[in-house]
Amino acid sequence: MALTSLPRKLARVLRRDGVFGTVRVLAKNIAHELRKRTPSGRAAQHHVDAFDARYGTDTWGQVEAGELDVDSEFYDHATRYEASWSTSFHRAIASLDMDHSGVTFIDLGSGKGRTLLMASDYPFKRIIGVEFSASLCDIARNNVSIYRGEAQKTEAFEIVCDDATQFPLPDGPLLIYMYHPFGDPVMRRVVDNIERAAIATPRPIHVVYMNPVHQGAYRESNVLREVAEDPHFKIYRYPG
Ligand SMILES: C[S@@+](CC[C@H](N)C(=O)[O-])C[C@H]1O[C@@H](n2cnc3c(N)ncnc32)[C@H](O)[C@@H]1O
Repeated sequence: MALTSLPRKLARVLRRDGVFGTVRVLAKNIAHELRKRTPSGRAAQHHVDAFDARYGTDTWGQVEAGELDVDSEFYDHATRYEASWSTSFHRAIASLDMDHSGVTFIDLGSGKGRTLLMASDYPFKRIIGVEFSASLCDIARNNVSIYRGEAQKTEAFEIVCDDATQFPLPDGPLLIYMYHPFGDPVMRRVVDNIERAAIATPRPIHVVYMNPVHQGAYRESNVLREVAEDPHFKIYRYPG
């Protein structure tokens, strides 16, 4: 089901993409609706995720990019919402040798906020999710308000409903997490922002890039260095 009313969404897509672009978005949405009606699509919709069943949260499922209620020039570069796998997430975070207590964890493209909940298993100073879909931000806010994890160390959650390119990175050591949230043009802007923040105020900055499809900006960076690699993620670092 679409997250916004169809006429409002159509008008916005028409304004932004013109007639041909709108036809393309419509075709993508129709294909998605048809997939949902296949046996595997129906099973997926009724699947109860173990994490959500345990904590009463709503983090599972997929929201196609065409269904996101977003007002951003970078809408077209967004990937669909789906949550990070907990095993890969914890493997990445645990591989970092750091004192979490001084570090701000930031998920750029945080969706329904499952990573924020998982990050609260570590004693981070702050945990910030940046997400440009208002509906997903609302769901994430509800999730962080009800989540009570057995290993939870902090409730210092913040959800910022904005485009990742517009988010001013806070001072202090950072762990920036991204799960393949957007295409190369947006990733380049985000990496540029990280580089500027690092140079303006030198401090340790780690970037965990899960499902690292767009690595060009990192390969070309003189500021961030690749420090770890896994079949599912890459980790880059500015030493500070
Ligand atoms: C693959 S999901 C990852 C969700 C979450 N980070 C996780 O790992 O569970 C990507 C998310 O990025 C969001 N997104 C895409 N482009 C964005 C942008 N320019 N600014 C903010 N959020 C964005 C999408 O709405 C979607 O929720």
